[in-house]
Amino acid sequence: MIISHQPVMVDEVISWLVTIPEGIYVDGTIGTGGHGLEICRRIAPNGRLICLDIDRSSMRLAKERLSPFEEKVQIIKESYVNLDKVLKRIGIDQVNGIFLDLGVSSYQLESSGRGFSFIKDEPLDMRMDEDRGVTASELVNNISMERLQRLLWGYAQERWAKLIARTIIEERQKGPIETSRQLARLIETTIPAKHHPRKRHPATKTFQALRIAVNRELKNIADFLEKAPLLLVKGGRLVVISYHSLEDRLVKQAFRLWEKGDIYPRKLPVFPDTRPPLMKALTKKGHRPTQAEINVNPRSRSAIMRVAERI
Ligand SMILES: C[S@@+](CC[C@H](N)C(=O)[O-])C[C@H]1O[C@@H](n2cnc3c(N)ncnc32)[C@H](O)[C@@H]1O
Repeated sequence: MIISHQPVMVDEVISWLVTIPEGIYVDGTIGTGGHGLEICRRIAPNGRLICLDIDRSSMRLAKERLSPFEEKVQIIKESYVNLDKVLKRIGIDQVNGIFLDLGVSSYQLESSGRGFSFIKDEPLDMRMDEDRGVTASELVNNISMERLQRLLWGYAQERWAKLIARTIIEERQKGPIETSRQLARLIETTIPAKHHPRKRHPATKTFQALRIAVNRELKNIADFLEKAPLLLVKGGRLVVISYHSLEDRLVKQAFRLWEKGDIYPRKLPVFPDTRPPLMKALTKKGHRPTQAEINVNPRSRSAIMRVAERI
């Protein structure tokens, strides 16, 4: 059975994002089209939704789901980092709203067969874009112990990073680590049982760190945030949902710098005539899902949504 993704804070996203029903909007992480479908329903027949993703199989599902709105939707396989190039290619200068729903989808975790989850036994791939990049298996079988330790700490604050890194290096000398279950079991037996977290699998953090590394998730967010303000019309909005503190920190930091008039994150010399556009944060603290939503969709519990407007 294919698991679709249950979109998070849908009503809130739509009401922040869609300011003009006839506008042009971007869903930079269309996934299986949960938010996209609602955006299509909300915009006018002459409104437009440009959808990007790098995961072909998710996009196939989104295409099917959004087919009733064919005339206003365009689905393009491209990273949101290259949104500026995509817009240029299709003859659009600026848009009325950009939405990013970061992280991994339920479809990818449960139905993609690419080893995102430690629950299943699948090839340890973890690439969202199967057309490029290094798989998680290639990464763990070739990385140095020091780098692996740094990666586990840096991308997931795994306190057992050193021990896990050492065990992985020892294990791969017996033979390559190739499946999600193989890695999950290894970590389960490496972290002393009395220190296993009560509410999650002991391999959760390792899987998160590897996924972030394989897909260059933080670099992508930072690179995108540098360009985002220039792609919005005045009054246009950027809506971002993050699922862990490393993602959210980048978004928060960018919002703060934009309010001061800086381009994020590069400190370029600013002259009056080249001064970058300013954005204003509309959600000072970030919005969280209601308890009612968390009860229905427990995966939404870590979500935080931030919105900024081009001024
Ligand atoms: C949380 S899911 C989005 C779910 C979507 N909002 C829905 O309702 O179905 C995140 C999506 O972002 C995609 N993604 C990750 N990195 C990306 C990138 N650099 N460019 C475009 N899409 C990306 C993933 O492939 C995944 O489908």
